[in-house]
Amino acid sequence: MPRTVRDVVFVDGVRTPFGKAGPKGIYHETRADDLVVKAIRELLRRNPGLDPKKVDEVAIAATTQIGDQGLTIGRTAGILAGLPTSVPGYSIDRMCAGALTAVTTVAGSVAFGAYDVAIAGGVEHMGRHPMGEGVDPNPRFVSEKLVDESALFMGMTAENLHDRYPTITKRRADEYAVRSQEKAAKAYANGKIQADLVPVSVRRTNPEGGETGWGLVTADEPMRPGTTLENLANLKTPFRVHGRVTAGNAAGLNDGATASLIASEDFARANGLPVKMRLVSYAFAGVEPEVMGYGPIPATEKALAQAGLSISDIGLFEINEAFAVQVLAFLEHYGIADDDERVNQYGGAIAFGHPLASSGVRLMTQLARQFEEQPGVRYGLTTMCVGFGMGATVIWENPHFEGDK
Ligand SMILES: CC(C)(COP(=O)(O)OP(=O)(O)OC[C@H]1O[C@@H](n2cnc3c(N)ncnc32)[C@H](O)[C@@H]1OP(=O)(O)O)[C@@H](O)C(=O)NCCC(=O)NCCS
Repeated sequence: MPRTVRDVVFVDGVRTPFGKAGPKGIYHETRADDLVVKAIRELLRRNPGLDPKKVDEVAIAATTQIGDQGLTIGRTAGILAGLPTSVPGYSIDRMCAGALTAVTTVAGSVAFGAYDVAIAGGVEHMGRHPMGEGVDPNPRFVSEKLVDESALFMGMTAENLHDRYPTITKRRADEYAVRSQEKAAKAYANGKIQADLVPVSVRRTNPEGGETGWGLVTADEPMRPGTTLENLANLKTPFRVHGRVTAGNAAGLNDGATASLIASEDFARANGLPVKMRLVSYAFAGVEPEVMGYGPIPATEKALAQAGLSISDIGLFEINEAFAVQVLAFLEHYGIADDDERVNQYGGAIAFGHPLASSGVRLMTQLARQFEEQPGVRYGLTTMCVGFGMGATVIWENPHFEGDK
């Protein structure tokens, strides 16, 4: 039977507020799978046109796939969220680009005709699962010099990227970080973020482990509104003596989950579901692992080439801010100003946090909001760097576009 590729759309996306990892963090007493469940249930609640029986797949990403992030979390979270047992699920891992890869993977299946609609998202509880938990890197990586030793430590790869781009100074990175905090605070003040957050009830304890009652989390915990250049100037550089990467110009260690609905455009329209973005192209690329932050550049080149677009066709950018230097390298490569208003309009991971495998869908959800507000923009791009030297880019078309086609 001949197959015809179908148009794929981003129907909707939601996330939990992001928390700070660790004993003082808001989700310290909350399971990772319960965060995913919250996000899936909110998606279903917001989209009553979708009959849960029709969901063809649940793809959930996590970098550390053990404990409450193990046991094929796409399957287990689907059951816990109350989806019929007939709905299958699986787990995905591409570290920071986990949720992004969950989206592109199910999107490929939708385009092929294997699925009509699927749930794709991600989770990372970095408090319960610190980066690198349980990993056992093959000694050959270092003994045979396949990669530089620093490749395994993301902060060190960010320092390496500063070395490669001597024009990107610590001051520039700090200035970028201050703007990210300002934009995020403004986006909150204007109600841009809250609309796609699902409140999470949490159990609270005191430092001695005693119960102190329940709370409701409705906002991102890591944000530091009012951050100034002076605040950032003297922070420690934990990844290198006299380095440039600090807690202020990097994303932190965070907990959170995201989920999105991906469908064929025909299915979405037939079921009265929103069409927030249309998928144009996606690509992944590898780079030297020791400068993993460079990854978004070749991934974007591939995605643009597939789409027959150039960077000047992109009207909105959502770039994951694992580190300020990595965003700045991308912008410098394309000759885009550090404060270009098309870039991360609502701020980014430096302010909101970056629970690794969940973040891709946060970028998409924010881009979808911006598309709705800006019908003059036709194309937008979500991109992220990925551990062990990769980049991931998805290009989207704005279904609300009102300009000349
Ligand atoms: C950079 C990193 C090591 C910092 O961890 P940390 O030391 O636990 O971070 P903290 O939040 O405690 O911040 C450290 C200090 O900076 C201060 N700080 C952080 N952001 C600040 C801001 N915006 N303004 C002022 N001070 C700030 C904190 O108050 C803290 O000060 P203190 O030591 O006096 O308490 C950690 O966040 C990290 O590893 N980030 C990268 C995560 C990563 O690799 N992700 C994957 C990407 S590929």
